Amino acid sequence: MHSSTTSTIADHLRSVPEAARVSDSMIVSHAKGSWLWDADGERYVDFASGVLVLAAGHADERIADAIATQARTVTNVYAHDTHQRSELADAILATTGGDFDQAFFMSTGSEGIETALKLARAATGKQGIITFSGAFHGKTSSGVAMDGQASVRDAYGGTIVGPVIRARYPYAYRWDLPGDMDEVALMLLEAQIQMEGPERLSAIVLEPFLGAGGVVPASTAFLRGIRTIADRYELVFILDEIQSGLGRGGAMWRYREAEVVPDILLGAKHLGGGLPIVAIMARTSIFDHAPNGSLTSTFGGNPLSAAAGLQMLSIIESDDLISQCVANSATIASRMTEWEGAYEIVGEGRAAGLSCGIELVLPGTAEPNSAAARAAKRLAAAHGLVTMPAAGVHGNVLRFGPALNIPADVLQDGLDRLEAVIAELETTSAR
Ligand SMILES: Cc1ncc(COP(=O)(O)O)c(C=O)c1O
Repeated sequence: MHSSTTSTIADHLRSVPEAARVSDSMIVSHAKGSWLWDADGERYVDFASGVLVLAAGHADERIADAIATQARTVTNVYAHDTHQRSELADAILATTGGDFDQAFFMSTGSEGIETALKLARAATGKQGIITFSGAFHGKTSSGVAMDGQASVRDAYGGTIVGPVIRARYPYAYRWDLPGDMDEVALMLLEAQIQMEGPERLSAIVLEPFLGAGGVVPASTAFLRGIRTIADRYELVFILDEIQSGLGRGGAMWRYREAEVVPDILLGAKHLGGGLPIVAIMARTSIFDHAPNGSLTSTFGGNPLSAAAGLQMLSIIESDDLISQCVANSATIASRMTEWEGAYEIVGEGRAAGLSCGIELVLPGTAEPNSAAARAAKRLAAAHGLVTMPAAGVHGNVLRFGPALNIPADVLQDGLDRLEAVIAELETTSAR
């Protein structure tokens, strides 16, 4: 059992606000590959990858070299062009097979979302946004206003310029309406658009699977339906692949698998190999609506993140990270299927590539077991495993996501530790 000296942790956290903490059970010292060490020298299997920001594991030498070389060359020139930035634009656009012809870089996923909203509003001259139950698009004010969970919005007012429609995301495990789920969800969305008035709406913003909303994948039929509705009502279709893109979701881009091309595509998370960078991709006809100079920011597309990004894209290719992700995802999925049969608190296990979630329920029911999900992270730490904070609309999804290249033996080791956590939660969950 791993144990950390709580007095040291309490001491350490003195100046960190409660709202900025995800764990009080460890202080991270260093990390390599899929292993992480705490300040006491205890070793943990990393099933979180930061928060899904490390595709090739921690401290990859090639990324470290790219960053070090760039740090000695040039790190910031504001919005002046650099080779790194334009090469990164070319490289990331190439992954879309020509679906987009311009790529613009900001620092965080939230900034990417803000930029996409600005572009959609400039392009349509309208303000309203359509977002979905369970959605997560970041923690800036617009991101919070778009969040699919009222509990997240409440403390912050949750406002956005113009109307916000919250449509239902098709969530099979908790769907309660008769008929074909995707068709019903699309029908409801269309009714909401008509009630609000399409002349007030600029964009539909969608994740191809809910990430923080509990790892809930949308079907190809649903994505196609969204494209049709966006065209019918002249809405800009913004696809948030900040989490799912560049391999994490089991494909370079989920939209390409579904053959549904959005108007604006966002990709981030591991793009910068751990450094902050988000890519906002669209056709020139969309970017042309943005007034000159109105999109830049201090750190957007900085040479350091761009150099790391170029190296990361090259590693995705050279190490075949996507095939590794698909194979590792299948291993996890089959283990989770076993757990569905073996443990009453496991309602459903879902893996969208290597974004994974286990829906924890009260034994013998489908009632959300948020207490178990909350307890899981600390319990996992005690078993030498780092997982992600509890997620999902009901806060009952135990969420995790290892590096795409986690070695098979480390993955098995991590899954054994995770099973021990689930077994312990099973015995402590009230019947
Ligand atoms: C789908 C999605 N959109 C947006 C964001 C926000 O990104 P950031 O935390 O970099 O602002 C996230 C972060 O987890 C995300 O998963």
